[in-house]
Amino acid sequence: MLRPTRVPQKANRFPRMPGLFAALAVFLLSACVSAPAGTEIPSALDPRGFAARNIATIWWIQFALGLLVLIVVTALIVYLLFIRRQGETGLPGDQTLLDDPKNNRWIWIGGIIVPAVILAVVMVLTLSSMNALASPSQEPETVIEVIGHQWWWEVRYSDEEFVTANEIHVPAGQPVRLLLTSADVIHSFWVPQLHGKMDLNPGKTNSIWIEVDEPGVLRGLCAEFCGIQHAKMQLLVIAQEPEEFDAWIEQQRQPAPEPNTERIRYGQQLFLGSSCVYCHTVRGTNANATVGPDLTHLASRRTLGSGILDNTRGNLAGWIVDPQHIKPGNLMPPTSFSGDEVQALLDYLETLD
Ligand code: CUA
Repeated sequence: MLRPTRVPQKANRFPRMPGLFAALAVFLLSACVSAPAGTEIPSALDPRGFAARNIATIWWIQFALGLLVLIVVTALIVYLLFIRRQGETGLPGDQTLLDDPKNNRWIWIGGIIVPAVILAVVMVLTLSSMNALASPSQEPETVIEVIGHQWWWEVRYSDEEFVTANEIHVPAGQPVRLLLTSADVIHSFWVPQLHGKMDLNPGKTNSIWIEVDEPGVLRGLCAEFCGIQHAKMQLLVIAQEPEEFDAWIEQQRQPAPEPNTERIRYGQQLFLGSSCVYCHTVRGTNANATVGPDLTHLASRRTLGSGILDNTRGNLAGWIVDPQHIKPGNLMPPTSFSGDEVQALLDYLETLD
């Protein structure tokens, strides 16, 4: 019987390499979280607005300076280790360089003057950037209050007298003032393509202004650990042409439409007769609680569960039936509707556009 010849194998000199690559991949791929349809990974180095562009420029300058220092220092080390003749290395035990007082000037130049110049340049850039970001050339007409909750974003257009959630609509090309606060713990508002992070603190209001260059949808996230669903506290910034934005405002100001069929009326009765009303508002009905997101125009929003699920009928059904499965620890309890009741409820909620 033929036996396969054993192919002599080189001993693997790096037996831990696959494990190391896997560990590295975890870091490299960890940004690949599920994203709502139509959005991309939000990179601070792909700025879409005034403040982020300013910050990205400073980032690149600091990166270039850091790279330059790395190259010079590495070249000096290589020179001292391999090129300069033995006995003149200046390494510990070699006194020839240190004995010469003239060589102190390298300590002054390399250790004090060059770092001081680099840090001064970075400080001037940072201060001028902070100044530019502090206030826009004209005070924004649009003011939006953003309130952090565990784990979603309340978005109040107080001048327009409506409230929405997890989606901030803004007019493109215009400055917008954001007033940031929290209803519970500290959160942090971060839309990397628009601005640096800003904390949302309970009992205090922080203010930033943003300006989005072009119409489009940008992703944001909570950047301060705020509990077990911190990672599922995302939001969208939707920049629209000014006319489109005005139309959106007009539509959001309307109360929820009245049911126009028996089926939808049945769905509404189920909603108003259940525990939904202890937490949610639907303007135009008796539901006016403010614990959870305002649902008056739920169907007009792109996502559910604070930016983590596309707003589809199936996802909404899953959320209503067992929200704790999708986002354990959130405040919404599971419901005990029958299959047909869930369908009727969905029929009703889908009219809230
Ligand atoms: Cu909110 Cu992290």
